[in-house]
Amino acid sequence: MIEVKNIKKSFDGKVVIEDVSAVMKAGQCNLIIGSSGSGKTVLQKCIVGLFEPDYGEVLYSGQNFTEMKGEQKTEIRKEIGMLFQGSALFDSLNVEENIMFPLSMFTNDPHKKKLDRVNEVLARVNLPGVNKKYPAELSGGMKKRVALARAIVLNPKYLFCDEPNSGLDPQTSLVIDKLIKEITLEFNMTTVVNTHDMNSVMEIGDYILYMYKGKKEWEGSKKEIIFSKNQLLNEFIFASEFLQDAKDMRMLEETGKIPNHRNMDLMLDKDTPPIEDTSEGE
Ligand SMILES: Nc1ncnc2c1ncn2[C@@H]1O[C@H](COP(=O)(O)OP(=O)(O)O)[C@@H](O)[C@H]1O
Ligand SMILES: [Mg+2]
Repeated sequence: MIEVKNIKKSFDGKVVIEDVSAVMKAGQCNLIIGSSGSGKTVLQKCIVGLFEPDYGEVLYSGQNFTEMKGEQKTEIRKEIGMLFQGSALFDSLNVEENIMFPLSMFTNDPHKKKLDRVNEVLARVNLPGVNKKYPAELSGGMKKRVALARAIVLNPKYLFCDEPNSGLDPQTSLVIDKLIKEITLEFNMTTVVNTHDMNSVMEIGDYILYMYKGKKEWEGSKKEIIFSKNQLLNEFIFASEFLQDAKDMRMLEETGKIPNHRNMDLMLDKDTPPIEDTSEGE
């Protein structure tokens, strides 16, 4: 679990993050959403310690990360995996060397053990056997998967992904989203994903924090998004008229104002059984 408490961050007197708090639980995908420039990346960097917040603190499994020094901080950092925006693979290293990099940095394991681990995570992201390929030879989706393999190679407790779907087509985005979700559940990781992709929100969002101009404008589950009356959130999520209509329809159905005639599992938790059709016999 990660607890973010009253984080503030300014650059040159310009407030970029204003008093943001959040609780991000293990075994779930915690999404930071918001339009471009709303502060998602800065907030994520404050949480992992790449930026020092001006105010507030971040707790990892109850331990105050912000107050930690040197060695203690390094211990937590070893438990953090990061999937950077744009993958950030080393172009001059092949896939195997890219993924092995954190192992060489943080462990003294012999080459054979490191290689076994590399092959393990490559299999996990469904890319066995691409060891000797260079990033330039990979498609966008493959690069993301290699970057994800590298992010999880040290078996992190916390996984951070900044815009994992940027530059990918919707179908490949879905593959990456599902992989992130599966891995999160499998290893009970606390995963934090920055995104402005509406599909991701509905597909993997367990907890959603909506940022607007550096502030936490709204938080809740994807189910609560459907019913939220927050105007800024609605304008962001349901940007098109079509989606706004779909949301209105869903709300009317849920409140019993019109009979449920369409199964919109797409918009809601897949585990939720469809609402019973009360119009039967009418
Ligand atoms: N290193 C930096 N120095 C100064 N301003 C920055 C820096 N990084 C981000 N900002 C500013 O902070 C705001 C939020 O940026 P960012 O977190 O990258 O937004 P998002 O990830 O939501 O698109 C923007 O106005 C951006 O210009
Ligand atoms: Mg960003």
